[in-house]
Amino acid sequence: MPSQPTVLLTGASGVVGSALLPQLPDCHTIALIHRNPVAGADEQLAGDLTAPRLGLDADAYQRLAARVDVIVHCAAITGFSMGPEATHALNEAGTRQMVQLAADAGAVFYHVSTAFVDRTDLTRAQLGQDHGDATARPEDYLDSKRAGEDVVRSSGVPSVIVRPSVVIGDAVTGQISAFQGMHGIIHGLLRGLLPLVPVPAASPIDFVPQDLVAATIAGLIREDRRDGEVWVTAGANALSTERLLQVVGDTADELGLAPTRPRMVGPEMVDRLIRPVFIANLHPRARRRFDDMLAMTALFAHGHVFPSSLGQGAGIPKAPSTGELEAALRASVTYMARTKGMVRDLPQPAFAGERVPA
Ligand SMILES: NC(=O)c1ccc[n+]([C@@H]2O[C@H](COP(=O)([O-])OP(=O)(O)OC[C@H]3O[C@@H](n4cnc5c(N)ncnc54)[C@H](OP(=O)(O)O)[C@@H]3O)[C@@H](O)[C@H]2O)c1
Repeated sequence: MPSQPTVLLTGASGVVGSALLPQLPDCHTIALIHRNPVAGADEQLAGDLTAPRLGLDADAYQRLAARVDVIVHCAAITGFSMGPEATHALNEAGTRQMVQLAADAGAVFYHVSTAFVDRTDLTRAQLGQDHGDATARPEDYLDSKRAGEDVVRSSGVPSVIVRPSVVIGDAVTGQISAFQGMHGIIHGLLRGLLPLVPVPAASPIDFVPQDLVAATIAGLIREDRRDGEVWVTAGANALSTERLLQVVGDTADELGLAPTRPRMVGPEMVDRLIRPVFIANLHPRARRRFDDMLAMTALFAHGHVFPSSLGQGAGIPKAPSTGELEAALRASVTYMARTKGMVRDLPQPAFAGERVPA
């Protein structure tokens, strides 16, 4: 590996890609741009992973392949409602194109997947439960991510599969390029719109700050890691659902929002009692929102603790402590409340100065 490797980054405008760029000062970075602009890359190149040769002409493709030492593949459909065809077109077939480029370039391939490939058995479809009015189909996303991993594993290209859990904002500032499903649920909690959460109190909710995911990928590149699976998760330090709701509620109180705290109930009780009696009569839009939440939270209800690879390897950050995760969650809640104009005068945050170590 050259001392200043040339790194091609897909998904550079996304949550993980935009957090990664500032962590690669010792690399020459080329950001593959799709629709949204990207700040902080040394070069930008317009491309579409669903088009043949990434939408590049044959010469441009060859010139790119001749230069690239490392590919970090973050581009993906991460929403759960785009349908299986579109989701597989990017997450599986798009990954195949990037692996081919890595083979043509002789580059090391860092493939960003998800820890939730380990939870496909928990989707409502897999459990034989009704989707109700949900448009969210986590199974489409998870199937496509598993298929993407298979493409990488069977390619023979030197590659590392990186599996983050839920990614939240920066550990200190809470900043994030786009609010995620987790933010949607926190928003509902802050506004007191979620009287119940369909996850048992003890189930772990594994999340990691975006800068920790970025520092892990940057560490793998520096280490010149060329194989294996790397779980970027809180693992045994993950907050329980009860503790997460307590931290969100306490932060909301500190911000002067004081929402009603929700009850935690098992999804079985929701299906048997709550949905038929209370949810079935709601406005269709509210019913769809509830069923979408049910589809997403199914991946946490009764979920086991994820493995974690943090701290294993010279350049890999250590796993955050539970206290550091709580501080990062408070930062994300505060950032979201402020960005959405829910609070005006912020109290001095209790997390000032703390940072998940990189
Ligand atoms: N966010 C999480 O909580 C989380 C958790 C675990 C794993 N992951 C994984 O981490 C990776 C990055 O996720 P993320 O949250 O950063 O994603 P994201 O914020 O949803 O961003 C997706 C990126 O993909 C690009 N993209 C979409 N369609 C494309 C196309 N046809 N050609 C080229 N680029 C295209 C987008 O560019 P434009 O915006 O310009 O279209 C954007 O930069 C994904 O593999 C995801 O599965 C994410």
